[in-house]
Amino acid sequence: MFRLIIASTFLASFIGFAVPTSAQDEVKVIRAGQLLDVTNGRMLSDQLIVVRNNVIEAVGDANRINIPSGAIEIDLSNSTILPGLIDAHVHLTSDASVNGYDSLSRSSIRNALYGTYSAGLTLRSGFTTVRNVGAVAYGDVALRDSIVDGEVAGPRMIVAGQSLGITGGHCDNNLLPAEYDFNAGGVADGPWALRQKVRENNKYSADLIKFCATGGVMSKGTSLGAQQFTQEEMNAIVDEAHTLGMKVAAHAHGTNGIQAAIRAGVDSIEHASILDDETIRLALEYETALVMDIYVSDYILESGTEVGMLEESLAKEREVGQVQRESFQRAHAAGVNIVFGSDAGVYPHGLNGRQFSKMVEFGMSPMQAIQAATLKAAALLGLENQVGTLNEGAYADLIAVQGNPLENVSLLENIGFVMKDGEVFLNQFSN
Ligand code: ARG
Repeated sequence: MFRLIIASTFLASFIGFAVPTSAQDEVKVIRAGQLLDVTNGRMLSDQLIVVRNNVIEAVGDANRINIPSGAIEIDLSNSTILPGLIDAHVHLTSDASVNGYDSLSRSSIRNALYGTYSAGLTLRSGFTTVRNVGAVAYGDVALRDSIVDGEVAGPRMIVAGQSLGITGGHCDNNLLPAEYDFNAGGVADGPWALRQKVRENNKYSADLIKFCATGGVMSKGTSLGAQQFTQEEMNAIVDEAHTLGMKVAAHAHGTNGIQAAIRAGVDSIEHASILDDETIRLALEYETALVMDIYVSDYILESGTEVGMLEESLAKEREVGQVQRESFQRAHAAGVNIVFGSDAGVYPHGLNGRQFSKMVEFGMSPMQAIQAATLKAAALLGLENQVGTLNEGAYADLIAVQGNPLENVSLLENIGFVMKDGEVFLNQFSN
């Protein structure tokens, strides 16, 4: 029905009679100097976008689109409009300035409140959709719901709830000695215990499942190269999650863990740092997306000491940062599906866009890097045709910059206009 209305109003605007605007509808017309069509990989000039409530109703050449009466005009004729950006790997409830043992003094409630702040920073930096891959105590679920209900300004969120991990692994919390007897909420060992954790995440309204398939940089006492979970355990997680209709993201740096997770059928590998030819071949065979956070290393190595990261984390980062960037370059050249994910939360929220120039430095064209943060990210999140595109029927999530990001992708570090769901959250450019 909804699609029918969109289709008929779109048709009506083409054949030239005015679409009736009902009293409750809010209609906006945006004049785009340039518009980036990510679906067809081209830049268009002189376009009009008609937004009815929270949906794009029509888009096309300015002289062909009918302006509905009563529409509010937004003039961005000096700017380039793009679909709102998507970051497939963030932690909105994590404050990048709190690390190591300091993190133990932060309650889950405090972290969720911090998320109401980082959500605004993220949205105003042009990221209108994020996938939040792990939060304690379902802080991400609460934040997502609060944004949906309009209490907090923030991006559309797809959330993982509690990340699943082995006892003592990267997704556990290993800072306290044994007498405290403390495990992170998503820790379980063995296939059935893990199926139960997947069901629990589903029960408390997580959208996807995240698990840790190897050690990590920021965790105490874990090794990047060491696989966490057996193949049997990973298979159980993925089978259970897919049965319940949830996608699965696996954190993995080391080659063995990456391979096991791909074979288990995960939808994406996070970090994907140490890739050999066989692993790249497997990712192609299984059509696994790689979400590679190749900017964050600069921040960890420059500011890690100052913000209290463990010395062990800095040492691991020195080993893996450059290796990951080279893996990115080879995987991209081989044609692997690489999706934009920054790991903001390990570095300050709102700086997500800094990763674009790294992706271009390591082999992508600016268009490919932008597609990784729009079209491809939308598909990974299961939101294709709804976000990451300016086509008719999509949510009215769009951003604008001055200049051409295809000539200088770092323009995406400074977004001047942000609309989400038809609502303007930032406007430095027009009326
Ligand atoms: N959250 C990740 C971990 O702790 C951060 C990795 C950052 N480093 C990198 N080169 N991507 O493992």
